[in-house]
Amino acid sequence: MFRNIPTLPELSAAVVTGGSSGLGEAFIGLLGRVAPRVAVCNLSRRPIAEKARAAFHAAPHHVPCDLADPDSLARGAEAVAGWLAASAPTGPILLVNNAGLGAFGRFPGEDPARQLAIIDVNVRAVVDLTGRLLPVLRARGGGILNVASVVAYQPTPYAAVYGASKAFLLSWSLALREELRGSGLRVVACCPGTTATGFFDAAGLGRLPGAAMGAEAVARFALRAWARDQPHAVPGLHNRLLTWAGSCLPRAASAWVAGLVLRRRAGPSLP
Ligand SMILES: NC(=O)c1ccc[n+]([C@@H]2O[C@H](COP(=O)([O-])OP(=O)(O)OC[C@H]3O[C@@H](n4cnc5c(N)ncnc54)[C@H](OP(=O)(O)O)[C@@H]3O)[C@@H](O)[C@H]2O)c1
Repeated sequence: MFRNIPTLPELSAAVVTGGSSGLGEAFIGLLGRVAPRVAVCNLSRRPIAEKARAAFHAAPHHVPCDLADPDSLARGAEAVAGWLAASAPTGPILLVNNAGLGAFGRFPGEDPARQLAIIDVNVRAVVDLTGRLLPVLRARGGGILNVASVVAYQPTPYAAVYGASKAFLLSWSLALREELRGSGLRVVACCPGTTATGFFDAAGLGRLPGAAMGAEAVARFALRAWARDQPHAVPGLHNRLLTWAGSCLPRAASAWVAGLVLRRRAGPSLP
């Protein structure tokens, strides 16, 4: 059933964060094409893009939620639990922690609140939502797919808070995986490199830094990594080479090189 995505368990439902654009939209669109019977629920501020909804048997559900706001997240998680009970009451569930944002430039930049929003959405919301949904995941099986980044593997000057948030996510994901060993739940971190979405515009970089992969290719790779139960996976050979090269250097040297590369790639658009 899952063309090019081997041995996915028969999912009953998928809960995706940030399905209104970019990679999240690609995850939902792909699930619609390869598993149209899976019930899908999205949490984000804006609704799911129309074209991602097309292939499903039952239209994906949207829970409006500001993940940076703990009260909104608590209400959103409750709405998801209610939706699961009503729309997909049995069978394995996949939770895709995808929503995220970044900021480029020298810390703290002109908008310190955005730096804190990065921590709220990329870190706190992932931990909070996962904790709230873990009991139902444990009861029904399935697992978690965390969308981290290649920047999780090294310090990233000029995106310092964003890089640290993704390093947290990768470390936490691997640790949670061990805690859940034997539970039947898969916990996988996907660590994409530059992907062609609105992410860099939103983060204030203005243009893509370097060669970008398409969002659908990244989503497909990520679902395949989850299906194969890979602890963490980097899509794209060039991204794998970069993370490998970075890991060969002492951490301080790797931070220096990353700063140099980002300054060069961003050029005058780096604030
Ligand atoms: N693009 C890349 O090069 C790249 C590389 C590595 C990793 N990633 C990661 O991939 C993930 C998806 O990013 P993308 O590239 O698809 O960027 P994007 O197109 O900007 O999408 C970001 C998504 O996150 C959601 N989001 C942001 N803040 C939110 C909030 N406060 N509450 C609820 N939802 C929120 C947005 O939904 P609303 O605005 O509707 O709320 C949107 O759907 C992120 O975790 C990002 O760090 C991206």
